[in-house]
Order: sequence, then structure tokens, then C-alpha cells
Amino acid sequence: MNRLRLPVCGLLLFAFMLPALHALEKQPAGVYRARRAALGAKLQGGVAVLFAAEESPLDFMPYRQDSNFYYLTGWTEPGAALMIVGASPQGATPRAYKEILFLPARDLHMEKYTGVKMDAATPDAPQTAGVDAVEPMASLPAELASLVAADRALGRNLWTQPDAPAAKALVDFTATALGTTALPQPRDVTTPTGQLRLFKDASEIALIEKASEASILAQRVMMQWWVKPGMTERAIAGAMTAVWMENGCERPSYSPIVGSGPNSTVLHYSANDRTMQTGELLVVDAACEYSMYAADITRTVPVGGHFTARQREIYEIVLGAQRAAIAAFAVGKSTINDRDRRDPNSLDTAAYNYINTHGKNLHGQPLGPYWLHGLGHTVGIDVHDPANYPQVLKPGMVFTIEPGVYIPEENLGVRIECDFLVGADGKLIDLDAKLPHTADEVEAAMRAK
Ligand code: GLY
Ligand code: MN
Repeated sequence: MNRLRLPVCGLLLFAFMLPALHALEKQPAGVYRARRAALGAKLQGGVAVLFAAEESPLDFMPYRQDSNFYYLTGWTEPGAALMIVGASPQGATPRAYKEILFLPARDLHMEKYTGVKMDAATPDAPQTAGVDAVEPMASLPAELASLVAADRALGRNLWTQPDAPAAKALVDFTATALGTTALPQPRDVTTPTGQLRLFKDASEIALIEKASEASILAQRVMMQWWVKPGMTERAIAGAMTAVWMENGCERPSYSPIVGSGPNSTVLHYSANDRTMQTGELLVVDAACEYSMYAADITRTVPVGGHFTARQREIYEIVLGAQRAAIAAFAVGKSTINDRDRRDPNSLDTAAYNYINTHGKNLHGQPLGPYWLHGLGHTVGIDVHDPANYPQVLKPGMVFTIEPGVYIPEENLGVRIECDFLVGADGKLIDLDAKLPHTADEVEAAMRAK
């Protein structure tokens, strides 16, 4: 915590902080190269072409790279494409592993607006980009067409992102170049890439920890300084955003959910336009992204600083459900996000059984039906990282445990969400251990001045 920029008090805090430089922390070039090689080995001798994310048409949306593209390259600019040729030593037309980053030609006029860019003609482009070869984007169609012309079977083993418009255009153009009306639907490259992304390496974990630390600090600032009657939900989202950015994060890792009173029962409420009143609960599901890696944290706090007896009862049931899931965890066996909630290996089942056997609604019925969503999900470059649910949990995976109970007729919603790493020894590590968990700890954090 001490390497974080700690708050002194409320608004004044931000005015007196010195600006800090916070470029993205990249991993060593060899890490991205190894990921590309690992993906190449999963292509069954095929060829993958991935495109960088397109720029948002909305002027207020800063550019964010496509998550799979970033995972494989560390490249943060739009307009690029990556080709990976999987080794196919035994085929009729043997191919060796090959990788090419395609970059658009520089536009010196636009660089007045965007700053200087790199293209394939830039000296030492491959070394700077950390890839074996860099070529102009204009060469991509010809490069792919010549590979498929030399081995027509390859036309059935192309891999792309299914929802990238440029990928569809490329495949259609390749068919035309080869004199056929159409090529088969390309295979989905996000599936094998997602399998790789499930397991985080040490430096990915370090980045997630930094996202968690800044998110924890913002949650603490929220509890200590900002939650009070008369405050708007949006002001709290803004104050937390300031803490994230001051601590090196680029952006929230999802739209902040700051829901008071009735809004505490709306799972993905994000209008954040209500003014909170004393006696209400406030669900704050808000965390940030550090160097492209997400944290995902929820805490539920009482607006006046004290839980009512009923709010505390429900809070403790939700916390008990999270603890029941933690206690049930068995590495390599437990699963997360099993909506069936009957499989004994599912952590969802452990949490559901706890909720359904503790407490009652206003009509004396069990609370199970008031928990509406999955227990958790994997976290990484995306806050909802790729996984194959119900996902068996193994060392190197990071995931959330986030039970909730939402009772609209009582305007009472509670969610508690922490991120967990499955350590190399198979034990769970709570990445949010430094944040209050119990109702008493939350109240104490709100009192601390
Ligand atoms: N924290 C938002 C979500 O998991 O959907
Ligand atoms: Mn979540």
C-alpha cells in the first residue's frame, strides 16, 4: 500500500499531488513472442490473422487495444494486423512457424494530431515492435493469398476474430484473389488464445495486483470521505476515478456501478444519477485497469455509516456465502460460474446453499431466489476474461467470488466481491485482503479520519 499515493483528505488530496508519469508497463518482448509461438502450436498447421481494435467513433472514448491482440503483441496502436503461420512440417507444402506484424503507412498530416507513429519503413521496426518481421498493411492480402495459393487446403484452416469486420473483408478478398466465390468460415482464433489467457504468468499477476491496490485505495477513499447523505452516486464514481488515475491506472475496468437504496438491487446499474439518503445501502462495484489488466471489486456500505440490524443480517449472509465458497475450494476440482447450483464441485453451489439456508425474506421464504447471477468469473486483460464455464480452477488463474442478495421490496441489495489468485501451491490468495470485509470493518473504515 505504501507505494500508492495515499489520500490526505477529501478534495484537497488531489490538488496537492504531484503529477506522475504512468506509461503502460509492458512485459519483456520475449513474453509476447512466446505467446505467439504457443498460439502457433495450437493452429494445427493453420494461419491466424488478428486485427487491432478499431477506433471508437465516440470522441470521448480513448483508444483501447483489442485484448487478444494486446496479449499476443503488447501493441497499443490501431490499424495493425498480426499474422501467425503455424508450423506444418509434414504437409504437402511444409511450412515453418512465421510471424508478421502489419502496420499501416504513416500519415504525416495526421501525425500532427496523433503524434509520430511507426510503420514498416521505420528503421529497426521489428526490434522496436518485438516481432520477427514488420511489413506494410498493404502487403497483408497478397501475403495471405500466396500462402493459400501454395496450399489450397489452408483455405479451410484460417483463424480470425469472428467479429472483426476487417477479417471478413480479408477472407472475402482472398477468395476473390484465388478465383473462388467463397472460403469456408474461418475458425475462431479467440478460442485458443483464450485458453492461453486463462493462466497468468508472474508479471501478469503483478499487474493485476497493481490494479487491485489502486482499486482498494479508491474503495477506502470512497468509504472514508465520500459516502454521506446528499452525495450523488456519480460524484463517488468520479472521486474513485481520480484515485485510480492518480495511481497509474488508465481507466475503470468496467463502467462503475454505484447504486444507492433501490438501485442497490439492480445488478449492473450504472446511470449513477441518484442522490443517496441516510439509512440506505450503497453497492459500489468499481475498480480499475492497470497497464491493461483489470481488478474487479464490490463493497456494500451504509450511507449513514451504520448498518441497520436487517442490513447487517443480509450483509453477514452474503459474506458467509463468500466464505463458504472459499472454504469449499479444492484446486483442480472446484468450478466457478455454474448456474445449475447442484454440482457439489461448484463453488456456486456452496455459496447458494449458504444463502438459501440463512435468513428469510419478509414472507418467511428462503433467500436463494434473491441471488440472481453467477458466483464469479475469471479476470485478466478483460474484467470478464475468457473461460470455459463452469471453469475448473487451477494454479495461475485469477477469478472473482461475488455472491449477492438483492431484495427489491426492501430496497436492499448487498454484493461483496473479491479477486482471488490460485497460487502455485493450489491455495487461494485474496488479492483484496487489505480491504474491509466484515460489516464492522466497513463501519470502522467509514469512521476513520
Ligand atoms: N463487476 C462487474 C461484473 O462482474 O459484472
Ligand atoms: Mn465481477
